[in-house]
Amino acid sequence: MNHSVINDLLVHPKVMETRDHIHHSIPKHDHLMRSARYSYRLAPLLGANQRVCVRAAILHDLDSRLGTLTTHGAIAARLAADLGEPSEVCAAIVSHMYPFGPAPTSREGWVLVVADKLASLSDLTHFVGGLFTGQSLEVRRRLRMSDPFYVSGRKTRTRNRRLELFKRWRRVDA
Ligand SMILES: [Fe+2]
Ligand SMILES: [Fe+2]
Repeated sequence: MNHSVINDLLVHPKVMETRDHIHHSIPKHDHLMRSARYSYRLAPLLGANQRVCVRAAILHDLDSRLGTLTTHGAIAARLAADLGEPSEVCAAIVSHMYPFGPAPTSREGWVLVVADKLASLSDLTHFVGGLFTGQSLEVRRRLRMSDPFYVSGRKTRTRNRRLELFKRWRRVDA
């Protein structure tokens, strides 16, 4: 893949931080790069603008934890717009979860839908492959320590569990 169309995005802090974020049990950055590579290859086959497809792919899951399965596309698209991306890139990002959420409205949107699904499948294949060497679990362990969403979620879960045990203890005591 020719990285020149995304060189500026690859060094952006919002993209860089995805190296520490967990997504499909792997670094989110790996998923974004795979999506970008599939988009790069699919774009000419579907007559889509390659630059738009690859830029949308590298941004399509940023801040995805702030939304749901169907809404995180819109969240990433808004962020892309804030970063100065044109409407074609943002529109492709909005619909990348189709058939969950809105349908694509452009060829670039369809490219990203397919590229994201292929990348997700490839993510899983790599994760399973790495289970045999132990590398997948090691990476996942590291990501669970570095991902701020996961760390804060774990704190909440621990607090809720403690509260639950305390309530149970009070009931027994009473
Ligand atoms: Fe997504
Ligand atoms: Fe994705």
